[in-house]
Amino acid sequence: MDLEALKRLAAEKAVEAVEPGMVLGLGTGSTVYYALLKLGQNVRSGLDIIGIPTSIQTADIAQREGIKLSDLATYPELDLTIDGADEIDPDLNLIKGLGGALVREKITVEASNRLIIIADQTKVVPHLGSKSPLPVEVVQFGWEVTRNRLGQRCSRVVQRQNREVAYITDNGNYILDCYFERIDNPAQAEVEINNLPGVVENGLFINRAEQAIIATQNGIHIQC
Ligand code: 5RP
Repeated sequence: MDLEALKRLAAEKAVEAVEPGMVLGLGTGSTVYYALLKLGQNVRSGLDIIGIPTSIQTADIAQREGIKLSDLATYPELDLTIDGADEIDPDLNLIKGLGGALVREKITVEASNRLIIIADQTKVVPHLGSKSPLPVEVVQFGWEVTRNRLGQRCSRVVQRQNREVAYITDNGNYILDCYFERIDNPAQAEVEINNLPGVVENGLFINRAEQAIIATQNGIHIQC
């Protein structure tokens, strides 16, 4: 199976957990895309759910699929969120945010009673920081100062670009991608990075996921 087929497999398995009447957090990314397609199909067959999108991109796709959307002001408590990840460690801690939606994703997860992560096998790592940079969303004002402080904590910091101009998040901020060899104490790193002036949020999601549905060449693996 190619990577896209694996993403679809994990996504469609997660959608089996969606029940009528649920208020559902909708993550962001290429794996979540397949969950949105499946949800759209189920909605067209009569499933009644309300989705809370974590990005403009997800809102656009969900709308196209006919999924009813609302917001956290109306629904501050969600039944379930389905989202992707960039890295998943053996303790089910995550790096997220390569898709640029980490702030809205973390707030949505905070509001959610359950989080199911969907991923293909390439996202599984022995320790966080081994493959993916850690995305950190920062305000534009004085971002160079924030970058320098982050640089004291990791081996390299790169301002994310989009077609040679600075990438701007849905919240109007920059993203700094921080490269580590490994993140030894992710729980501590999550708090310490968020304490730096200028940081809005970082992509460490610690003890947040109930399970990860990981699609492998040998079938679905559920990590709890
Ligand atoms: C977006 C995210 C995504 O969930 C993460 O980047 C995984 O994306 P993909 O499924 O495209 O690999 O955190 O902010």
